[in-house]
Amino acid sequence: MARVNDGETKTKILETLEEKDEVLEAAIDTWKYVLGYVEMAAVKCAIELGISEAMENHGRPITLSELSSSLACSPSSLHRIMRLLVHQKLFKETITPEDHTKYYSLTPISRLLKNHGDHSMAALVLLETSPVMLAPWHALSGRVRDEGRPAFEAAHGESLWEYNAKHPRHTKLFNDAMACNARIVLPVVLKGCAEVFEGVGTVVDVGGGNGSTIRTMIKAFPWIKGINFDLPHVVEVAPESEGVEHVGGSMLEFVPKADAAFVMNVLHDWGDEECITILRLCREAVPKDKGKVIMVDAVIKEEKHEIDDEKEEKLKGLRLMIDMVMMAHTTTGKERTQQEWEYVVAKAGFTKCIVKPIHAIPSIIIAYP
Ligand SMILES: C[S@@+](CC[C@H](N)C(=O)[O-])C[C@H]1O[C@@H](n2cnc3c(N)ncnc32)[C@H](O)[C@@H]1O
Repeated sequence: MARVNDGETKTKILETLEEKDEVLEAAIDTWKYVLGYVEMAAVKCAIELGISEAMENHGRPITLSELSSSLACSPSSLHRIMRLLVHQKLFKETITPEDHTKYYSLTPISRLLKNHGDHSMAALVLLETSPVMLAPWHALSGRVRDEGRPAFEAAHGESLWEYNAKHPRHTKLFNDAMACNARIVLPVVLKGCAEVFEGVGTVVDVGGGNGSTIRTMIKAFPWIKGINFDLPHVVEVAPESEGVEHVGGSMLEFVPKADAAFVMNVLHDWGDEECITILRLCREAVPKDKGKVIMVDAVIKEEKHEIDDEKEEKLKGLRLMIDMVMMAHTTTGKERTQQEWEYVVAKAGFTKCIVKPIHAIPSIIIAYP
């Protein structure tokens, strides 16, 4: 009898211990969410300090004391930031076997954290980590509740576009952030739809921001004349450039006429109703026989079995997170599945629509009138 009881007690103890292991594992995983903001803050700190520039200017791997004197900052605090960023693989650390001196160098990611240059993503990090863009995240659950107030409006009392219109410094940061993202993704997009631009004389970039997208497009396809179309306060401060005409107005009211309309990272800012209006105006702006509307936006894959490789899985995770950004920062915006894209495109009166994945966050969606 006693032996049976002993056995039962032992099993119970083991079960309890297993449960405790599970709880501990879950708690460790939960810390990932508790500390989710730390990486973001450390990357922002690296950009503000100019760590990547200092390393690049140095021209060869740099020691902590060289880095701290070049940045005029405390070696001990800098060491702690670098220790984390090296651990997260943002910077590389090498130790000489002779005297064990540590040298830091850039990685492909930290090269993008320079404040200037064609491949800088610094403005995007600075925008998304700005207090203005972080505040709405505290109101996300409010937006999810039925009839909840949009998060940006709950935080700032107005929509992002209304806020931008009143705050030129924030608009500049916003446009710089969009432009740095566009500079990186645009070559892949243009390569992916080069044949679409053959025979196209004019392109209107709808919601084109400061015009950097249309400028890049004209460089790639010099036969094109470009129209950069955005809200009046945005185009007023957009730099002049040969072959580009800036037009101010609202794409919810009209779209300037052209052979093709290009709409990148814009439609996800809007719900279906506004999206259909914008697309209908784009359709009416291009010739019925050979016009086209080229959209560049994410396409969410719903089915698990559609994901066949690691990169696609990573891209899916990013697209789902950007969908949350739309929820936090726009009033009605959302990322769409292919079915949802086909719905808005058909409702806007197009007869044909082709989706071209480009192994990046967005896909190219071409609609024909
Ligand atoms: C997310 S940004 C995309 C900018 C650019 N297409 C890119 O990919 O970098 C959205 C753009 O839409 C513009 N926008 C917002 N409301 C608009 C409206 N009613 N009419 C025209 N442009 C508008 C914003 O000013 C902003 O430049």
